[in-house]
Amino acid sequence: MPTAHPDIPAAERLIVALDLPNADAARALVTELGDAVGFYKIGLELCMAGGYFELLDWLKARGKKVFVDLKFFDVPETVRAAVRALSHRGADMCTVHGNQGMMVAAAQDKGALKVLAVTVLTSLDRGDLLDLGFDCDVERLVLSRARRALATGCDGIVSSGLEAAAIRTELGARLLVVTPGIRPVDNRSEDDQKRTLDAVGALAAGADYLVVGRPIRQAPSPRRMAEAMQAQIATYCAAR
Ligand code: C5P
Repeated sequence: MPTAHPDIPAAERLIVALDLPNADAARALVTELGDAVGFYKIGLELCMAGGYFELLDWLKARGKKVFVDLKFFDVPETVRAAVRALSHRGADMCTVHGNQGMMVAAAQDKGALKVLAVTVLTSLDRGDLLDLGFDCDVERLVLSRARRALATGCDGIVSSGLEAAAIRTELGARLLVVTPGIRPVDNRSEDDQKRTLDAVGALAAGADYLVVGRPIRQAPSPRRMAEAMQAQIATYCAAR
């Protein structure tokens, strides 16, 4: 399948998740990765550690793009106001993880900030959905949430690579697809990710951006691993 958004520079398609205990550890990893990575995701762990917005500013001052992954879920007015405030801080992407009303509110005042709706966490499988009270097929739920994201004015969705192809088939290039849960072909690491694909597999399925955390952070050389993934992405994109 051709890349849905060929205008995105190949080097920006890799988003490294800075799931680290504090902002100093995040800065150290960013420094180590250097120009191998230009896009970072900062999430809940760093938010709780303190210095979150100083880190955002520090990343922006170094020319990095920043994805604020706090998965907003609240009454619509609070979601609207939070996204609006964030758009003034220079973040490039954020996530909302709620129903139609929350998605509408998130898209309302977002400015240039890209709002992504989380479809179904890549750590959840059908059994986990049942446990949450959703007696339905994962792909069906992802597609229904993707349709809703489009209808409410969100810019994209967060989805496993396993559902990206179905989203592209139905919705074409109208949404950005951001895909976490990137693992070697057969995920033997036995971590919490259940619905995984490798980097090229996810791109081939229609992902625009890949979110990668532990496979880079826990590699013997994070920089070499990031460079290897960037090379795979560049090769794939050049061939499309
Ligand atoms: O370490 P790993 O590569 O599993 O990191 C994936 C990142 O993507 C984590 O920061 C996680 O919060 C995030 N994420 C996810 N599934 C989603 C949305 C975000 O794994 N649906």
